[in-house]
Amino acid sequence: MYKIINSLLVFFILTACSPKSEKKYVGFIEDQDIVVDSGAVVSAHPQSSRIGVSILKKGGNAIDAAIATEFALAVCYPEAGNIGGGGFMLIRTSDGKTDVIDYREKAPSGSSRDMYLDKSGNVIPGFSTDTHLSSGVPGTVDGMIKAHSKYGKLPFKELIQPAIDLAEHGFPVTLRQAQDLNSNRKTFVERNSFKTAFVKDSLWREGDTLIQPALAETLKRIRDYGRDGFYAGKTARYLIKEMKRGNGIISEQDLMDYKSVSRQSISTLYKGFKIITVPPPSGGGIILIQLLKMTEPYPLKEWRFHSARSIHLITEAERRAFADRSEYAGDPDFVEVPEKQLVSQKYLNERMKSFNENHATSSLDLGPGSPEKYISEETTHYSVVDAMGNAVAATTTLNNGFGNSIVADSAGFLLNNEMDDFSVKPGFPNMYGLVGGEANSIKPGKRMLSSMTPTIVEKNGKLLLVLGSPGGSTIPTTVFQVVINVLDYGLSIGKAVDAGRFHHQWYPDWISFEKNAIDSLASDKLQKMGHSLKERAALGSVNAIMIFPDGKKAAAADKRGNNSSYGY
Ligand code: GLY
Repeated sequence: MYKIINSLLVFFILTACSPKSEKKYVGFIEDQDIVVDSGAVVSAHPQSSRIGVSILKKGGNAIDAAIATEFALAVCYPEAGNIGGGGFMLIRTSDGKTDVIDYREKAPSGSSRDMYLDKSGNVIPGFSTDTHLSSGVPGTVDGMIKAHSKYGKLPFKELIQPAIDLAEHGFPVTLRQAQDLNSNRKTFVERNSFKTAFVKDSLWREGDTLIQPALAETLKRIRDYGRDGFYAGKTARYLIKEMKRGNGIISEQDLMDYKSVSRQSISTLYKGFKIITVPPPSGGGIILIQLLKMTEPYPLKEWRFHSARSIHLITEAERRAFADRSEYAGDPDFVEVPEKQLVSQKYLNERMKSFNENHATSSLDLGPGSPEKYISEETTHYSVVDAMGNAVAATTTLNNGFGNSIVADSAGFLLNNEMDDFSVKPGFPNMYGLVGGEANSIKPGKRMLSSMTPTIVEKNGKLLLVLGSPGGSTIPTTVFQVVINVLDYGLSIGKAVDAGRFHHQWYPDWISFEKNAIDSLASDKLQKMGHSLKERAALGSVNAIMIFPDGKKAAAADKRGNNSSYGY
């Protein structure tokens, strides 16, 4: 495969366009893709990628750059970047050691299993998504401080300062951001008691400057007081004041008690490649591994890219993996998740016994397996690799675009609506249509199940791929497809990211697909097999880096968003 990659690299270098002044390219793949010698950052916004690379150039490592990128995203990408939310950071240091910083939000101490139900046991519409009650205790700031204390090289103050400058002086919004801010305008106005930075007298236009003075002050407090700059003092008081205004339940004690944790990554071997990803409380990693192991025995390449046969196989594996998620996945600090059994080859072989090569399984007939015998789709992902070979794949979120659209009073940051990722009632679908049960029920201090799937791939002990995606339930299936696009189909990382995608999640029982993902021939065949198909808008938004044997890095930013690759 390296032969293919190397020949593509040579082609890209030979056909390289003239370098733009800010980016020292050794080659171009396509507009949003670059090939560089030293370090690269791919994130959802040009400002955050630029800031990440500036930290690398100052001598920071990948973890330093990731922390600076994360704080920058909280300013320049309020759709999902945050300090009021949480996420997962997968780290692989140059010596091959891995670590997962879990900074997922937690249910407040005043939460309870049935808090979103009325007296008759019915789910109260919008409670878990649109109100102050929908917020979990934020984890991002603690997560970044933990990552810095374990791996940081540059002083923390230097990593957060670019975000402060960005918030204080502003940045030009992209066209898409102007549209997003305009379409969310009514919600911002309705849900806040004051005029937030996100609402102007006139509508937003591309290139307008978004300035966030209150957020800049909060970031300064974090710079000056670390954890206490967010979880105590003024910032905490502003957040609690906002909670009281809207009958929210996050308390001062909840903020004091929040702690991110380091967890062990999970991994599998797939066709000679080591796939490393994140454990629960994200269900994404387990799903990714299950999909790889359930499809590995079949000759995907021979069956051809997105043929009816290949799509059918992948769909059936997805159906089974999501059915398992609904039953077994939850916060491992609260429930026993049968992680090992769920990814055991024996169990997955058993699970695929009912796979019929010619016919779709009905989700009605397919419940979760029994592993005892043997986890608006806004979230954002960034990937970082430094010149030494340290790598970070991090996915972070407020859940919905702009979270619940509520700004924490004078603290200037948006609140998450992550509580909707719990199973608010067994069998009741969340905003992604995912159903769950007791394993993911609400308990004080528990982390809600996620689908985030930051992933790293090694070949012969060497770093090969760093990737991940937003997209709620579609995250693991998106990551899976990009991985097989490279490993099985030999696509360049840019093409692997660009290729059309499809998705199945057990319920609803249909294959959703992007316009260019399934041709009419495959579509006809799939329908004859008993599948329902539904075209939909973009699936995921992958930011990925591929590392070549000679140390060069190809950074691919998904064209489905304003994603941007920077490197040097
Ligand atoms: N809030 C989306 C996820 O964590 O999967």
